[in-house]
Amino acid sequence: MQIIDKTAQLAQAVAQAKERHQTIGLVPTMGALHEGHLSLISRARQENDLVVVSVFVNPIQFNNQEDLAKYPRTVEADCRLLEQAGADIAFVPTVEEMYPEPVATVYHFGPIEEVMEGPRRPGHFSGVAVVVRRLFDLAQPDRAYFGEKDYQQIAIVRNLLEQIKYPIELVACPIVRADDGLALSSRNARLSANARAMAPAIYQTLCQAVEMSETDDVDDVRQYVLDALESYHLVNPQPDDLKFEPEYFEIVDDTTLQPVNTWQGEHGRVGCIAVWLNGVRLIDMVRFR
Ligand code: PAJ
Repeated sequence: MQIIDKTAQLAQAVAQAKERHQTIGLVPTMGALHEGHLSLISRARQENDLVVVSVFVNPIQFNNQEDLAKYPRTVEADCRLLEQAGADIAFVPTVEEMYPEPVATVYHFGPIEEVMEGPRRPGHFSGVAVVVRRLFDLAQPDRAYFGEKDYQQIAIVRNLLEQIKYPIELVACPIVRADDGLALSSRNARLSANARAMAPAIYQTLCQAVEMSETDDVDDVRQYVLDALESYHLVNPQPDDLKFEPEYFEIVDDTTLQPVNTWQGEHGRVGCIAVWLNGVRLIDMVRFR
């Protein structure tokens, strides 16, 4: 595996691969890699000749400076994992290398960014789009791999591809979970042991919601999830005053991302949640239909 930290060097490696008519799979990440990321890489490995994985904590997508400062950075361990996972190129640029000039571009996505993460993280999706487009320009992939854990991000990247008209296939990969159901996330490492023990209740509650959806209305299921998490610490007393603080739980159309009030419709239904626990913001999602 080649470890590349310069954009010119990546462009050169990509040009060579193109000369050999090799297909390229790109997996963008912010590092602190876990099995969730590795599932994207193994899928890319199966489907492409050259697998490029970027490891770059993208400052312009963080609307919270504390979150940026605390974001785990484990580049050496990441490169070892990437080598084992069969990546061909680890692209690990500095901020100056990625953004030699101040970023002036702002992307707009309309209704799909006006829900859930959008209003709560102003500028976040534009920052994601800027870095993803830059990575597309450098790596010129045939396919790009994204996880459904960040469900709204997939819709944003799909919309970006329509805007810029790049012929890149977006491959959406299912969420990888710990044995107890917690969606794997780089941020899980910041949970205390007690908070980590409590966190699986998020997915358990989402699974109960899926069961309830057989018999109950959308609004009741939505309210149930919020109530169950908000009152969790009252029903199950916790050490250290731990409690869930849901930021949102929305049941939305899986394509338009707009909130729905019926289970039936042209598209599927997904439930997306953001919840604070122990100073850490966790997100998860389930499919209803
Ligand atoms: P990051 O949070 O590092 O995630 C990189 C990719 O891994 C994303 O597509 C994410 O959805 C996927 N992923 C994370 N946890 C997962 C899990 N448990 N199961 C399956 N896939 C999972 O998302 C980003 O970085 C950034 O926004 C990025 C796209 C790299 C742009 O900076």
